[in-house]
Amino acid sequence: MLIDTHAHLYLDQFEDDLEAAIDRAREAGVTRILLPAIDVPSVHRALELCERFDGLYAMAALHPTETKEATSSDFDAVAALCDDPHVVAVGESGLDYYRDRSFDDRQQEFLRLHIRLAMDRKLPIVFHNREAFSDLIRIVEEEWGNSKEMDGRRGVFHCFTGTPEEAARIVQAGFVVGIGGIVTFRNAGLAERVRSIPLDRIVLVTDAPWLAPMPYRGKRNEPAYVRFVAERLALEKEVSLEEVAGVTSRTAREVFGIG
Ligand code: NI
Repeated sequence: MLIDTHAHLYLDQFEDDLEAAIDRAREAGVTRILLPAIDVPSVHRALELCERFDGLYAMAALHPTETKEATSSDFDAVAALCDDPHVVAVGESGLDYYRDRSFDDRQQEFLRLHIRLAMDRKLPIVFHNREAFSDLIRIVEEEWGNSKEMDGRRGVFHCFTGTPEEAARIVQAGFVVGIGGIVTFRNAGLAERVRSIPLDRIVLVTDAPWLAPMPYRGKRNEPAYVRFVAERLALEKEVSLEEVAGVTSRTAREVFGIG
């Protein structure tokens, strides 16, 4: 059993073959798929899919790149959607400094709002990071405090590509590391760096339709391909695929409170 904790199945890239993609996921042993939000309409589309298919779970948040234009009423809508029983997490929130540095302050402001929402609703939170790790972890630690007690904080730093030191800091802060297709890229160096992360602090992500693992690099990604991520992790951790599947699925179920 595998869990893909991060797939944007509601996007147009799945318009033509969504059912077939979900069938392929099942055949690959992927029993649960979590659907992180990008904006308010994406939460509604994710909730429709949760009604149509078993084993799907939604999240609610404004993606950091959306916060340039987002309003406080958009955030209020996200907060209201967190009451839906299909919504299992706040996500994806975070910081993205890759393309546009003109609204870092707005990104940080919305990040703090999302963290407070997760704390208030006792929900886990999924963080997106691009070239912003030091600000992201600082704000997370500031908002949650540095107490040794984990006080219920749960969540994922998804599509992790950082250093072993950064992974250790995520784990120290009470969160888990989401590993995706980049671990299979020969030139990324991530495979070596994941060896130091405890297996039980890792969950699997695809970030479908993006970041397809080898041997599908450059193609559309889909939840079935999370198996290639699990296989690569098994190789690096020198354990069986079954162990990777079992341990990462148990962690995902604990973090997201799903059965
Ligand atoms: Ni994503």
